[in-house]
Amino acid sequence: MDRFEIHGGNRLEGKLTIKGSKNATLPLMAAALLTDEPVILRHVPDLADIGNMRRLLDNLSCLLDWQPLEDLNSAGGTLRIHADPAGNSHAHYDIVRTMRASICVLGPMLARRGKARVSLPGGCAIGERPVDLHLHGLKALGAEITRDGGDIIASIPDVAGRPGRLKGARIFLGGPFGSTVLGTANVMSAACLAEGTTIIECAACEPEIVDLAKMLTAMGARITGAGSPRLTIEGVRQLSGCDHTILPDRIEAGTYMCAAAITGGDLTLDNCPVDALMAHMDRMQLMGVTFQFDGKLDPLRTSCRVTVGTRILPTELTTQPHPGYPTDLQAQLMAVLSLADGTSIVTERIFPERFLHVAELSRMGAQIYRTGPTANITGVKKLTGTQVMASDLRASACLVLAGLAAEGMTTVNRVYHLDRGYERMEERLRTLGARIQRVSETVPEPLPG
Ligand code: EPU
Repeated sequence: MDRFEIHGGNRLEGKLTIKGSKNATLPLMAAALLTDEPVILRHVPDLADIGNMRRLLDNLSCLLDWQPLEDLNSAGGTLRIHADPAGNSHAHYDIVRTMRASICVLGPMLARRGKARVSLPGGCAIGERPVDLHLHGLKALGAEITRDGGDIIASIPDVAGRPGRLKGARIFLGGPFGSTVLGTANVMSAACLAEGTTIIECAACEPEIVDLAKMLTAMGARITGAGSPRLTIEGVRQLSGCDHTILPDRIEAGTYMCAAAITGGDLTLDNCPVDALMAHMDRMQLMGVTFQFDGKLDPLRTSCRVTVGTRILPTELTTQPHPGYPTDLQAQLMAVLSLADGTSIVTERIFPERFLHVAELSRMGAQIYRTGPTANITGVKKLTGTQVMASDLRASACLVLAGLAAEGMTTVNRVYHLDRGYERMEERLRTLGARIQRVSETVPEPLPG
């Protein structure tokens, strides 16, 4: 298992191009199952999760052509997906268990093929992660859903002996923690091929849902309201192929903003979706971080310079569905707050157990006191490098950030979590001046600098 060794203390400086969004790419790839024509996706990041989704689609009878880009500073590669609607409709546990987002093939496969069998994804390090809302929405569209062992079996009932179609419906998709991102993606994608009009209330407003609606519209779907809590979808009989450029990854951008802040650095992020990061940038501005961006460029793909004052100020935040503060940046910002000049309060309202990074940050000298979904972080003067264990994707990013600022060497073990969501993070950080290396059990790289 690979680990990162980080010698902290270097100030990060330079330019980086933000990759296409992982969390947008996964449902976009699944949406290729809705059509018999090729779908071309550009700015696809080269990540373990995307590789798993390619493996899953290959297994579901799609022809794939993947052209990665070697350039470390590119926005990503190009992927062509051509689905065979008569092919295999069973997403097996051995792939689904590696990636919870596999669930987003359920809606598209059901809508186009009339049936789908998808193994139930288990929980993960950040919590229980049920899929009841996905099933609620698909049932409202007329799907019959049963369970067999660990599999969900979904089908559209025949009408007079002929294959039926999903039926448009009014659906409330809110749950105990608000809207669901992949649940909205699943139900919206399926509703595109339903007969009649579907209204989804309490739909997720995340930029990744807007990007999916944009691609579905380019395929011939009729969707209004994307980005608001009410989506209206007029079903069509069939969808065509398309050529779509993926939204930049707001979480990767937000993480590198934290890297600038925690090292007192000066970074310029190209292809940066500032419009999708307002809550994060608002908190960081209160903490003393300055952002300068080119207002003439598309605010979803602009160039943004991040600089920091002499001290980091504390703040208070609560994670919420978009446009609130994103749960996927909570851990990374906490690393920065652990060095702030005062006490910060962070409340997690999406995944109340998403605090696995707290114990590891504390091993590095952070002072964090957690009660239930709230953490009180009293800033310390310095963090100290030590061995820490990555437990999930964003917690791992938090530990890398802490290591960049810590005194001495930090070893972040189990970085395979990071490879799920950050393309070649250690190489990209090195181009900015960090002293970080990946150590594989077999072939260690030489330490730079
Ligand atoms: N929920 C339910 N029932 C459901 C679905 C969700 O109760 O059927 C609950 C969840 O347990 C959670 C809340 O609703 O408390 C929100 O979960 P959501 O369904 O929105 O999460 P998701 O769609 O499975 C995506 C991202 C996550 C991100 C969340 C929240 C992808 C592939 N994953 O997950 O990203 O944290 O939205 O924004 O898009 C990550 O990238 O590190 C990551 C975990």
